[in-house]
Order: sequence, then C-alpha cells, then structure tokens
Amino acid sequence: MVIMVDSEFHEFYKKSVEERLRILKHAAGLTDEEIGVLRSSAIGMDVADRMIENVVGTCELPMGLGLNFMVNGKDVIVPMCLEEPSVVAAASFAAKLARPSGGFRTSSDEPIMIGQVQILGFKNAKTAKDAIIRNKKKIIAQANERDSVLVSFGGGAKDLEVREIDSEIGKMIVVHLFVDVRDAMGANAVNTMCEAISPVLEELTGGHARLKIISNLADRRLARAKATWKKEDLEKSTKGLMKGSDVINAILEAYHLAVNDHYRCATHNKGIMNGIDAVVIATGNDFRAVEAGAHAYACVSGKYKPLTRYYKDKNGDLVGEIELPIAIGTVGGATRTKPEARIALKILGVKTSKELAEIMAAVGLAQNFAALRALATEGIQRGHMSLHAKNIAVIAGAKGDEIDKVSAKMIEEKNISVSRAKELLKNR
Ligand code: MEV
Repeated sequence: MVIMVDSEFHEFYKKSVEERLRILKHAAGLTDEEIGVLRSSAIGMDVADRMIENVVGTCELPMGLGLNFMVNGKDVIVPMCLEEPSVVAAASFAAKLARPSGGFRTSSDEPIMIGQVQILGFKNAKTAKDAIIRNKKKIIAQANERDSVLVSFGGGAKDLEVREIDSEIGKMIVVHLFVDVRDAMGANAVNTMCEAISPVLEELTGGHARLKIISNLADRRLARAKATWKKEDLEKSTKGLMKGSDVINAILEAYHLAVNDHYRCATHNKGIMNGIDAVVIATGNDFRAVEAGAHAYACVSGKYKPLTRYYKDKNGDLVGEIELPIAIGTVGGATRTKPEARIALKILGVKTSKELAEIMAAVGLAQNFAALRALATEGIQRGHMSLHAKNIAVIAGAKGDEIDKVSAKMIEEKNISVSRAKELLKNR
C-alpha cells in the first residue's frame, strides 16, 4: 500500500518546533518514540531553530579525537566529526608514524577569497574592461564601504581582475574581486561586496550585472602540509612482515595509479576529504564549500589529479605533501552559534583561520597516507572490521557486553552479517 504524504505544510516556518513536530508526526506516521528522538537535541532546539528553516530536530555525529598530531613542532588535539569507522584511528596512526621525523610542517596563503560579478550586454568588451581597470581604486573603495569591521581588522577588498569569457550565448565579462576575509570563511562579506559594486560596474560598462557571488574555488587561499615517514617505522608498522622500502614502493605504486587514473583519483581524494571534512564539521564550518574547492582545485590543470604528492627523499624515506584551498573560519557563522564548534576550536587551540586551515591540511595528508599504507600492505578491510562488526552487532540487537562478544566471534569466523549476529545472540 502506498501512503500519500502531503508535503505542503502551510506556513510551517512560522510555527513553533513543537507545532511542527505535531504536524510531522501525523503526516509521516511517526511514533512517540521517534518524535522523542527528534526532540532530544544536544545543541538545543532554540539554537537549531535560529540556524535553518523548518527545524524539527538535530542530527548528531560522533566527535572523536585525532591524536599524536605534531604540527610545526607543536602538539595538537584534533576533534573530528563523522560517521565512518576507522577514519579517526587511521589519522591518529599516520600522525604517530610521522612523529619521529618531526610531524607535519605547514604553510598557507593569506585568507583571500574571490567574489565574481558577471556582466553581460555591454557594447564592446575591450572598452568595458578598460573602464573597470581605470576605476579599480574607486570600485575597491566602494566594496570596502560595506564592511568597515573587516577593514578595521586589516581585511577587506584588496584588488580586482577582469576576465573575458566566450560563451554559447555570447561574450561575458567576469570581475574577480579579491577580498581578504581575515578569520572568517568570508562568503557573507564577499557576496555583500559583489552586490555593492554591481551598480558602478553597470554604469562603467553599459552592461548589466547578473551573478554576484563568491567562487568556491578559493585558489588564493591554499593550505599546505608536508611530512616524512621513515622506512624503519613503516617496517615496524607491518610488524616486520614487509621491509620498509617495500612498503614505500607499494605506496608509490598506489599513488601513481591515482596520478594516472581518475577512477582511482576520486577515491584517493575522497580519503583525504574524510579527514578534512571531519575537522571542518567539528568546527562548524561549511564542508560543501571546502569539498567544492578541493575537487575543483584537483582539476585546475584540466585533468583531475591527486591533492597529495609522494616521493622518496635521499635516505629512501617517504615524503608526502598536500596543497588545496581551505576556506574556513574561526569567527562568524556556525563556528560561533554551535556550542560544540566553539569547544572544538578551544580543543584545537587555534586563533586564526590560517592556523586552522593548516591543521586541516595536515589531517588530510595523514588520512591519505594512512589509507595508502593500509591498501599497500594489509588491505583496508582489516582496520574497518572491528568497528564494522560492532555496528552490525548493535543493528542485530546486541546490548552492553554482548556487542564486543558477538563482534569478536563474527570477526573470528570471518562472517560479519546481521543474520549471523542474530543467530549468535539467540544462542547465548
Ligand atoms: C574510504 O572512506 C576511503 C578510502 O577508500 C580512501 C582510499 O582508497 O585512498 C580508504
């Protein structure tokens, strides 16, 4: 039987959370228990209700700690929020293996974001472009009038460039406004400035401004990290089953598949983002923006490429490097409104968006190294199995110490399934 659900709730956004829950309960046939789950919220319904529209609950993720991270000679504890088993353990393991050679060295660009204003309908592209360039100072000053606070902190619009694009529907001009957003992610400031300068751009070009919006390809805001993994430590990590130099060669073979094959490269970069997104989410930042920037940056050469690079140094040890745009903030948005995000920033001990972006780059590199090491040695499944088996045991109904017992038995039998977990529970 198909149940028809009405999704046109009149003025739902105006209702209280309790009223919305009543409407939803009726419309979707939810039980009291299910409504109770939605109602229980760690961040508080009132906070959630101010963050997005039509709120009926919150959605929690576990926060785990990435450990052993040494970044620029300083120990850092890294809060990571995600649902996938093994990611936190893998990052911590990679960070531990990097410590004997000093951990991670990082760097980053100034926090410059790009705002785009698209102009159409001008008579002559060259004349329009020249007019914008001649009035660059005036345009930048107008942009800065919109954010005196940012300017007082040393940020604000700093420069602009004009690009000409030939499209299927004719020529377009795109003005790139470069804005130093200091410790913010910057989308609000940049979008406001783009809208503010559009009338003067229209006046100067005789055209009309269509899109006025930030670019998530924040390629003037790159973060970098580098680490060395010594061959003797890599040998130990296999409990002597493989020589360190063989582990390194196997990792390089895995890496070169990603360099030359976009099917593998997507998974390679996904593994990097497992770590980065987890810190982006923990700190209340916009993971969709960081994802978009990362994957766009991965193909700026015209070919989709890994965000990391690996090679051997003169000792034959493995060097890993990462570079990608990381547009995140330590002020503004959910970094302030979500209490756990504020706590995550305190745990990290970061003050600036640059420091935070660099730690995220280090985590991305650690995550990628850990995946490549596992894939090149024992395979990825072994590490995943323990938590996976526990999840399956819980799904089958295990409680308390049953969870460990049932999952251990399934691992021993190499038969991890809900049906086997149910059998084991029945026979206890
Ligand atoms: C799984 O979430 C991520 C990996 O597939 C990454 C990789 O293969 O490099 C393990």
